[in-house]
Amino acid sequence: MQPTYIIGGIVLDRTTIDRIVDLRQLVLGVGQMPEDNHRDTRHFGAFHEADEKRQNPVSCVSYMRERYGNLEAWRLNGLATHPSERGKRIAFYMLPLTERLMIAEDESVKSFWCYAREAACSTYVKDGWEFASGLFVRKGRSYFIMTKRC
Ligand SMILES: CC(C)(COP(=O)(O)OP(=O)(O)OC[C@H]1O[C@@H](n2cnc3c(N)ncnc32)[C@H](O)[C@@H]1OP(=O)(O)O)[C@@H](O)C(=O)NCCC(=O)NCCS
Repeated sequence: MQPTYIIGGIVLDRTTIDRIVDLRQLVLGVGQMPEDNHRDTRHFGAFHEADEKRQNPVSCVSYMRERYGNLEAWRLNGLATHPSERGKRIAFYMLPLTERLMIAEDESVKSFWCYAREAACSTYVKDGWEFASGLFVRKGRSYFIMTKRC
């Protein structure tokens, strides 16, 4: 994949779980999951352009193949922006770009879903996601299931 500009000085690139796991742990308190190494799983990172080796992501997101009901779908997982980089619209631009890349991987799968933390819902809503459940608590945190069909 050719790196794509997200916003000034920030590029999107495919990455690997080892590059994003620290950011995910810092921001979400969640480390590596078994699905992270599945062959269908894709990881993306947003990096400062100057970070040529793409070692220190400022934001990340992963997609895992997981059905939603009876629909073939991608489950979005691990969306996280470093606290010092928040509010710069990195997630706002990264989400649609990565969704398009996932559809390009397999045009037959155009449905996305996620467990959206309550505090992050507005980010998904701005990207066209819809609520597919009421608020529920899972492992002590409040979530909605959200979906998007591209
Ligand atoms: C949700 C999250 C990924 C958004 O990342 P981001 O790159 O900051 O997103 P954006 O800049 O595109 O938009 C974030 C919104 O928060 C606002 N915001 C502004 N400053 C902010 C700050 N210091 N911290 C958090 N949010 C801020 C932005 O203004 C924007 O709202 P708006 O579109 O109404 O202006 C990020 O807040 C995060 O990592 N949160 C903690 C982890 C999390 O909950 N992940 C989602 C799991 S489902």
